[in-house]
Amino acid sequence: MQLQDILFSQGFGTRRVCAGLIQQGFVAVAGIPCTEPAMEFVAEDLRFTVQGVAWEYHEKAYLMLHKPAGYECSQKPSTYPSIYTLLPSPIRQRGGGAAAGVQAVGRLDQDTTGLLLLSDDGKFIHRMSSPRHHVPKVYEVTAKHAVDDRQVQKLLAGVVLDDDPKPVRAAACEKTGELQLSLTLTEGKYHQVKRMIAAVGNRVEDLHRSQLGGLMLPEDLKPGQWRWLTAQDLSSIST
Ligand code: URA
Repeated sequence: MQLQDILFSQGFGTRRVCAGLIQQGFVAVAGIPCTEPAMEFVAEDLRFTVQGVAWEYHEKAYLMLHKPAGYECSQKPSTYPSIYTLLPSPIRQRGGGAAAGVQAVGRLDQDTTGLLLLSDDGKFIHRMSSPRHHVPKVYEVTAKHAVDDRQVQKLLAGVVLDDDPKPVRAAACEKTGELQLSLTLTEGKYHQVKRMIAAVGNRVEDLHRSQLGGLMLPEDLKPGQWRWLTAQDLSSIST
């Protein structure tokens, strides 16, 4: 694949802009500046730098973000900044066109923190967001009032939310502290954790998503940081 096409596919601008970056000596492959836009490389796993910043080629983008509090999972946020501002611009622009860049896989509330996946693979986003694809999501809840066993039992047995007579139940629920519980859900209804906790007479003070399927938020990924998902990360989601 030509170097200019590699840069174009990774979101560095139009083909003309990418050719310009290369001709001006801003792009290096394996530490060696390359000023020829049509130079051919094997794109898969290619590592290169653009203006000194290291990049790796990804045919499709799959990332995890440690979502901080105070960010909205929307491209057009209403009140708080968008999570997309936490990503470098090539990741927001890859693919070009109206539906450019990565999209969040599902959403977390503005005040919720934790593991959020993003991708530009429409099939992956659809599969992960589909209600038929029951990926367990683990939430760490800090409640306003002490958590008691009766509340835990009710969450496991199922509670009725205002928009659906069919009860929703936690796949797992464990009290982890006086005010804390760990809740596993296999659905993703609007404000589901907050509404379930309210339905058992308590209130969510703090909400953090720690796990999706078998994929845990790594301890060294700090709020606001992102990283590419590895093949192993991707397979662990559905195991
Ligand atoms: N449930 C909620 O109430 N909020 C979230 O952000 C995620 C799940």
